[in-house]
Amino acid sequence: MFDIQKIRAHFPILKRSVNGKPLVYFDNAATSQTPQLVIDSIVNYYSNYNANIHRGVHTLSQEATNGYELARKKIQHHFNAKHAHEIIFTSGTTESINLVASGFAKIIKKDDEIIVSALEHHSNIVPWQMLCEKTGAVLKVIPMVQSGELDMDAYEQLLSKNTKLVFVNHVSNALGTVNPIKKIIDKAHAVGAAVLIDGAQASPHIKANMQALDVDFYTVSAHKMCGPTGVGMLFGKETWLNKLPPYQGGGEMIKDVTFEKTTYAELPHKMEAGTPNIAGGIAFGVALDYMNAIGFKNIAAYENELLQYATKQLKAINGLTIYGTSEEKTAVISFNINGIHPYDIGVIIDKLGIAVRTGHHCTQPIMSFYNIPGTVRASFAFYNTKEEIDLFISAVERAKKMLS
Ligand code: ALA
Repeated sequence: MFDIQKIRAHFPILKRSVNGKPLVYFDNAATSQTPQLVIDSIVNYYSNYNANIHRGVHTLSQEATNGYELARKKIQHHFNAKHAHEIIFTSGTTESINLVASGFAKIIKKDDEIIVSALEHHSNIVPWQMLCEKTGAVLKVIPMVQSGELDMDAYEQLLSKNTKLVFVNHVSNALGTVNPIKKIIDKAHAVGAAVLIDGAQASPHIKANMQALDVDFYTVSAHKMCGPTGVGMLFGKETWLNKLPPYQGGGEMIKDVTFEKTTYAELPHKMEAGTPNIAGGIAFGVALDYMNAIGFKNIAAYENELLQYATKQLKAINGLTIYGTSEEKTAVISFNINGIHPYDIGVIIDKLGIAVRTGHHCTQPIMSFYNIPGTVRASFAFYNTKEEIDLFISAVERAKKMLS
């Protein structure tokens, strides 16, 4: 059912070697690799129908517009949004979050409360701190517990009629924890608060359903799910996107411009000023087709097998601690070995061809919680194999021996 060798053949980069060893790419939570057909779609765009969209009557412009708008529809269907105009193309999750945060500066008042979680990436902390600075709103934090899960009782205590917004990631990039977002959304709605879910780390593993979740905003970066960098999406409920002011002024987002007054275009264009990443948007749609053809259930089941296989072997290494042990997690393992800096392990195993991320993973509050400077993070994708995990385990053991 899951022909791993066939799948690996779709990714040209997996054939390369690093430092004379076959590449073992375990940094998928930072960015996923790109299958040939996504690369081909970018080459095809620039080779055959590169033109600006929504503006020209000429054939190339119409073809580019059709390709871009078809990609929007693919994204709509994948995430089960009610309307295509609820999908806003952005440069990625960070821009999606900043778009919402900057829009809420007009809505949030002094002493309103906004809630983030202790598990957030800096990109889902800093824009809200900036919003609080601008408006005088108060930022509250859902604490985490030792397993790397959120303290849901504490969350309920934080909610009140003053809560206006709640921001939580679907999956923690540093620990892999899958957060109970449906519960988080429902409880926030019960007090009248809007919810933004950062789906950057969930989207390569879990197909999120906007209508079933009843979420107000959801953000995704294409490059985490086999697409190119520099493109992503913001899903926003139509009612919210209509309420928010435009994010940037410019071409494409207007209805009429005079020096006295400008009126804005309808959604989605109101939020999409300037020439977008056209090739990137089209390639994002192709990446979604590709992943859907493999099937998200198959992907999740296979990645979970890899996770269990690697976790078991890592746990057998003396002095090794895994951070993030929640029952439900994606294929991410963050760990440290007693007395050894994570960076040193990363450098040594890179010499053996193995790519992992080391450091704080843009989640310094999580590192502070565990009182550590950072971790070694291995993150798996559906094109990884158990044989690669074996190479990784022996590389970690070798690094431990060299550094102890
Ligand atoms: N946010 C990305 C990561 O977790 C870059 O590595």
